Amino acid sequence: MGLFNRRKENRPTFEVLGTDMHCHLLPSVDDGSRDINETLSCLKTMKSLGFKKIYFTPHFQANYPNDETDIVKRFEQLKKALAPHAREIPELAGISGEYRFDQRYERRAGIDAVNPLPGKKLLCELSLHGSNYNPLESFKAFLAEGYNLILAHPERYPYLGIHSPELKEILDLGIKLQLNTLSLNGFYGPAALEKGFAFLENGWVSYLGTDLHNTHYAQELVATAANSKVQKVLQRYKFLNSEL
Ligand SMILES: [Fe+2]
Repeated sequence: MGLFNRRKENRPTFEVLGTDMHCHLLPSVDDGSRDINETLSCLKTMKSLGFKKIYFTPHFQANYPNDETDIVKRFEQLKKALAPHAREIPELAGISGEYRFDQRYERRAGIDAVNPLPGKKLLCELSLHGSNYNPLESFKAFLAEGYNLILAHPERYPYLGIHSPELKEILDLGIKLQLNTLSLNGFYGPAALEKGFAFLENGWVSYLGTDLHNTHYAQELVATAANSKVQKVLQRYKFLNSEL
């Protein structure tokens, strides 16, 4: 795609990705979008940045112990409410979740129903601050049940360095990594920026996700698209977003 990954007005985009599979734009269910107006504004920005399909992934964690049935209902209501804007926004392709595995909240395979992405893919996240909790046994239980796990934003966990044995174990289990696009523009600080590029160089990144929460993130996403280093990443590496 390279130079052609630009819209007519020569605005740099994420068109080559096509699909976003990590965002918090289902209104009023977690720390993401506050209401439908904010969601609509963010979705319009995403459309202008070349996204064609969006999967919503609200938090499932101790602070936001959402219920799948309720979340699905809210998603269907949102789709109906946004139907008049269908041409201005990406396709609202589906609803899943970002499932936290930490000492305060853990989904148990075989006991808890979860709502995966297509292909039985499950977006997982760890504690951002670290703990004695070891998620690997839970991950293995989900893998044994045929789930395909995707670890969200590995560059954001300070305790997960590129040489850490835990990361090697995660990769050896076949768990895919999803980098936050905004990390590549320094949104989460210099450590996440550096690690993000290191993970890419090692060929470990399968997905880029926006992890979009609100209009502030949306503006940061516009700035990230305009970063020439980010556009080079989009040209150089193959991501699996469009398979979703
Ligand atoms: Fe997220």
